[in-house]
Amino acid sequence: MAAWSWLPLLVAVAAAAAALRVHGQVAPDSTGFISIDCGIPEKSSYVDGATKLPYVSDAGFTDAGANHNVSAEYINPSFSRRYLNVRSFPGAPRSCYTLGSLTPGSKYLFRAVFMYGNYDGLNKPPVFDVHLGVNYWTTVNVTAASAAVLAEAIAVVPDDSVQVCLVDTGAGTPFISGLDLRPLTSALYPQVNATQGLAVLGRRNFGPTNATLVVRYPDDPYDRAWTPWIDTEEWSEISTTEQVGGTAMAPPSAVMQTAITPLNASKNIEFSWDAVPNHVYPTSGYICILHVVELQSLDAKATRQFFITINGRTFYHLPVTPHYLFTDTFYNTAPHWGFNQYKVTMNATANSTLPPVISAAEIFSIISTANVGTYGQDVSAIMAIKDNYQLKKNWMGDPCVPKTLAWDGLSCSYDTSGPPRIITVNLSSSGLSGATSLYFSKLTTIQYLDLSHNNLTGSIPDVLSQLSSLKVIDLTDNQLNGSIPSGLLKRIQNGSLKLRYGDNPNLCSNGDSCQLTRKKINAVYIAVPIVILVVIAALVLLLWLLRRKKENSVKPQNEATDARSRSQSGNGHGLPQLENRRFTYKELEMITNNFQRVLGRGGFGSVYDGFLDDGTQVAVKLRSESSNQGVREFLTEAQTLTKIHHKNLVSLIGYCKDGEYLALVYEYMSEGTLEDKLRGKDGNAGPLTWRQRLRIALESAQGLEYLHKACSPAFVHRDVKTSNILLNANLEAKIADFGLLKAFRREDDTHVSTDRVVGTHGYLAPEYAAALQLTEKSDVYSFGVVLLEVITGKPPILRCPEPINIVQWVRQRLARGNIEDVVDAGLRGGCYDANAAWKAADVALKCTTQVPAQRPTMTDVVAQLQECLELEEGR
Ligand SMILES: *[C@@H]1O[C@H](CO)[C@@H](O)[C@H](O)[C@H]1NC(C)=O
Ligand SMILES: *[C@@H]1O[C@H](CO)[C@@H](O)[C@H](O)[C@H]1NC(C)=O
Ligand SMILES: *[C@@H]1O[C@H](CO)[C@@H](O)[C@H](O)[C@H]1NC(C)=O
Ligand SMILES: *[C@@H]1O[C@H](CO)[C@@H](O)[C@H](O)[C@H]1NC(C)=O
Ligand SMILES: *[C@@H]1O[C@H](CO)[C@@H](O)[C@H](O)[C@H]1NC(C)=O
Ligand SMILES: *[C@@H]1O[C@H](CO)[C@@H](O)[C@H](O)[C@H]1NC(C)=O
Ligand SMILES: *[C@@H]1O[C@H](CO)[C@@H](O)[C@H](O)[C@H]1NC(C)=O
Ligand SMILES: *[C@@H]1O[C@H](CO)[C@@H](O)[C@H](O)[C@H]1NC(C)=O
Ligand SMILES: *[C@@H]1O[C@H](CO)[C@@H](O)[C@H](O)[C@H]1NC(C)=O
Ligand SMILES: *[C@@H]1O[C@H](CO)[C@@H](O)[C@H](O)[C@H]1NC(C)=O
Repeated sequence: MAAWSWLPLLVAVAAAAAALRVHGQVAPDSTGFISIDCGIPEKSSYVDGATKLPYVSDAGFTDAGANHNVSAEYINPSFSRRYLNVRSFPGAPRSCYTLGSLTPGSKYLFRAVFMYGNYDGLNKPPVFDVHLGVNYWTTVNVTAASAAVLAEAIAVVPDDSVQVCLVDTGAGTPFISGLDLRPLTSALYPQVNATQGLAVLGRRNFGPTNATLVVRYPDDPYDRAWTPWIDTEEWSEISTTEQVGGTAMAPPSAVMQTAITPLNASKNIEFSWDAVPNHVYPTSGYICILHVVELQSLDAKATRQFFITINGRTFYHLPVTPHYLFTDTFYNTAPHWGFNQYKVTMNATANSTLPPVISAAEIFSIISTANVGTYGQDVSAIMAIKDNYQLKKNWMGDPCVPKTLAWDGLSCSYDTSGPPRIITVNLSSSGLSGATSLYFSKLTTIQYLDLSHNNLTGSIPDVLSQLSSLKVIDLTDNQLNGSIPSGLLKRIQNGSLKLRYGDNPNLCSNGDSCQLTRKKINAVYIAVPIVILVVIAALVLLLWLLRRKKENSVKPQNEATDARSRSQSGNGHGLPQLENRRFTYKELEMITNNFQRVLGRGGFGSVYDGFLDDGTQVAVKLRSESSNQGVREFLTEAQTLTKIHHKNLVSLIGYCKDGEYLALVYEYMSEGTLEDKLRGKDGNAGPLTWRQRLRIALESAQGLEYLHKACSPAFVHRDVKTSNILLNANLEAKIADFGLLKAFRREDDTHVSTDRVVGTHGYLAPEYAAALQLTEKSDVYSFGVVLLEVITGKPPILRCPEPINIVQWVRQRLARGNIEDVVDAGLRGGCYDANAAWKAADVALKCTTQVPAQRPTMTDVVAQLQECLELEEGR
């Protein structure tokens, strides 16, 4: 019997890595591949001779560790180039690589390779752990300096980036030679889901014609490594030059073109693998995937038929008859457990005239990927703080998970109902200098903030007062100046917050409050006398009045008639007069911290996160040079936004027109787009409740109604869709993106003919798509589609499997008379009022009727949705 030998396999990979088969065929798509050679000089890269894939230095993926060459005696010309250098991470409990630009919820293959090669001259190969995000992946046990260890895993990635971390377990310094990431299609490896991944034990190509050849990219479009397995004492090899077909699960034809049968035709095919326990999984479950195909054209009398068993138990319940040149794949979904060794036996049935055959096998152990990382907003805030102050510490990987590796100076709450949250930040004596980062105000569950004994300068940001859980702020011994802001004073007054601020010689330098600091320089808590509050309130009032006066010298808000004349002159020629705050490009750089954090991207360019001086968080939409949204659309949007004000339309805070740079500064909508909320893309929150959905629909409808009714001429939005409806922290909906807005006169015209279709596929009203006829009713149609998405949670175009418009889909299903068939699965089980759901669906279908005149107006829609909400609230 051939044993599935683990170590020789690894060495074979190393030895053969330079000897991959490359055909002269067109290379499959390698977009999304990340191929890293760890330890080569920063910025260097090369093209791998065998796969023709470009390999890059790891400098852009990690900021820890140091590069080393392996010792000269381990430089072997048959080894692939990536084994010749390593990056090692001495003294760090956890060191991570961050791989970005991923699609959340998709499956990826991860491959990490390690060859020690005595790079440190200690001749002591280490043992350490590797984690995939916040979950254990494998233990790397390097048994010999020349052994190349290969670890591969397949897992679903929850976010748009993932970290691969090396964890020091006290048995030597972790190091790494190379790291690859390859996107997989969802049809591959059905055992892999959001909470379960697979670690590869081996992936074997039986009976290859060239015994040293590892099949990889481009033969395998996913660049899996299929290692040869030949046992000339037990097996004879058969092969074909014909192409072998198969389903998505099938290995590449290059692997399936060769197979083995028993050398003695009356014997069985047998091979086995040993369980590989480790300290996290003392017993593990195994998945076995077998690929068989008939490579010989059999005459009528010949049959090949066999049973497959594992440790004597049925693996597949029927006898298998391989198909000619078409791969059949057999696998288990419930893992095999509880043995030290697993033996696969393939025996011919009594009827069979030919022995069994097999071309390829894959063996995996199950790994859990069920641990969730820290709440996303906490992670991005603490990362921004880390970058801002260039903190080193042990701040690598996830801040709170696993608990044993949580970041120094943080403490977290681990509530089973949601992801872990940061509740304490202690950066006392951490060498912080510069301003107090406004990102502290994004840690919304923080209770204790200790920034004492640092060199912080500038004033104390008032936004900290909005952190409702915050109980103690310690700012003792810094270089802060200015006075204590009013919001904080209020919190201190009502006893909900303690502020320690001694040893800040320049704090509260104006008026009485300053003397207080001087007198009680070592005071721990302050009790603020009413007098100071009054003085400060008076100051604030004075400042406000001054600012008001300045603003009053600018033109006041327009009336509706004014809006018309302006919008016409604006559409016709020249620059409209903008009345909001004007920013320079330099100011935008300050506000966005050099355009550091991208909130989203659109046709116009990117939208960045930023803070104004007063701590107000804003979204800055910067037009990119390659934008297909022109200056005209930009100006339309800017101008429109200055004219229209409604609580359900996103409001403009200011704009920038500085040389080539065009940008708009909006209020910040912390909960992102309705689209992401409905499709669960934002990761943290559960699905929206039915009541939240109805409220969002109603508010969006009110925003649109205002556009249609309150302005004269009426505005048509033209691009109503769920990604243009934004939500703030209270989940209040506001309509955004006015770049395509058109105004027209209701008196003389019933519709405007435009010169090209703009808008978004799936949302376009039929008369607009077909005849470019634009009326408010086109928006009503698009809103109907939005409402259907809100009800069903489905996208506007479904694939099931043929593309179908959501309007048709809902109509077909509702025709069967059951509202349960269409309501979002996340809401089923009585979490909604069925009457309200019927009514909402009815409104949506009326909005999406073919004939524009039969669609309701937005005023009708608002009234109907209001009733829906009342029904729901009365439930
Ligand atoms: C196997 O493949 C390698 C690399 O392509 C080549 O150098 C070697 O000659 C091949 N061996 C045989 C027997 O074809
Ligand atoms: C590795 O070796 C190359 C020359 O072979 C040398 O240029 C480089 O500096 C070495 N790198 C390290 C980290 O020692
Ligand atoms: C590493 O492998 C060696 C040899 O197989 C074994 O003796 C040792 O216990 C392993 N170490 C760990 C930590 O698993
Ligand atoms: C993933 O698959 C496992 C095993 O089939 C199952 O227990 C688990 O619930 C699945 N997880 C998800 C998120 O579907
Ligand atoms: C083939 O195997 C059978 C049964 O194990 C045995 O009786 C026979 O001698 C073997 N033939 C050869 C040529 O080894
Ligand atoms: C093959 O194995 C199956 C399952 O163990 C067994 O039922 C059957 O009798 C075997 N057939 C032959 C011909 O050995
Ligand atoms: C073997 O052949 C007999 C007679 O043709 C048939 O009844 C039986 O079902 C076959 N067995 C299998 C496992 O196909
Ligand atoms: C914060 O850290 C400092 C020094 O590391 C320590 O003295 C202080 O007690 C810590 N504060 C809390 C609340 O743990
Ligand atoms: C603060 O900065 C000054 C000058 O840059 C430096 O001398 C001092 O050591 C710093 N203090 C702390 C606590 O980092
Ligand atoms: C406070 O310090 C900052 C930076 O050190 C400085 O720019 C600012 O003018 C100071 N403000 C006052 C009121 O002293």
